[in-house]
Amino acid sequence: MAIIIKKEEQIKLIRESCRRLALVHQELEGFIRPGISTKDIDIFGDQLIRKLEGIPNFLHYHGYPASICVSVNDEVVHGIPNKHRILQEGDIVSLDAGMIYKGYHSDAARTHGVGKISAEARQLIEVTKQSFFEGIKEAKAGNHLYSISNAIAAYVKPYGYGIVRDLVGHGVGTELHEDPQIPNFAQIKKGPRIRPGMTLAVEPMINMGRGDVEWLDDDWTVVTEDGSLSAHYENTILITEDGEPEILTLY
Ligand code: MF3
Ligand code: CO
Repeated sequence: MAIIIKKEEQIKLIRESCRRLALVHQELEGFIRPGISTKDIDIFGDQLIRKLEGIPNFLHYHGYPASICVSVNDEVVHGIPNKHRILQEGDIVSLDAGMIYKGYHSDAARTHGVGKISAEARQLIEVTKQSFFEGIKEAKAGNHLYSISNAIAAYVKPYGYGIVRDLVGHGVGTELHEDPQIPNFAQIKKGPRIRPGMTLAVEPMINMGRGDVEWLDDDWTVVTEDGSLSAHYENTILITEDGEPEILTLY
């Protein structure tokens, strides 16, 4: 499949989908506190998306049963909200959310601390976030796609963290997952050339220990194999004609 270059009319709608999703994430961040369940987060997020005239794109996606992926501590991504899973002070929680607005998808993720968290956990979250920003410095028209991957990997390397290899970023548009796949680890090949009008979800997933992951019996929840903490940071970006990309899901 080819990488889709979006036209100006489509970009306007993707931008609006992403702007609304950023508002959802902003509200979700303020909602996080000890004592709430991961299901409470899903219910709140689902309501926000619908209030903003969006359709939750994760709900029923390949059978996924919720609107927000809520992944706690050693859970990497795709955690299933559960009313019995109560957030505790010191936990870290990754929230992945998306919506469809007028036919166009948006996708973004953040990891938050619950109350006061350890300095080690804080650093993992910050390095994961910064790795995204280092990666997208390379997201310029004319560059090769895997320059993004290599920049993320190079930034993370000195910290000794494990980069998740089994899940990758992707194109976003009329589908949640479009070509190309965007790895977060170093590549030998260069990858396709980056062009203006591409809309991409860049999403490093970084583990405090090794990068290996496994799937729980629910067939969704991805956890670190060694039980170490994991963080996730994702935005949908637009490749511009020149210079830096536009980050569409920032608040
Ligand atoms: N944001 C996720 C990703 O791009 C998609 C979650 S799909 C779901 O990897 F089905 F788990 F919700
Ligand atoms: Co994504």
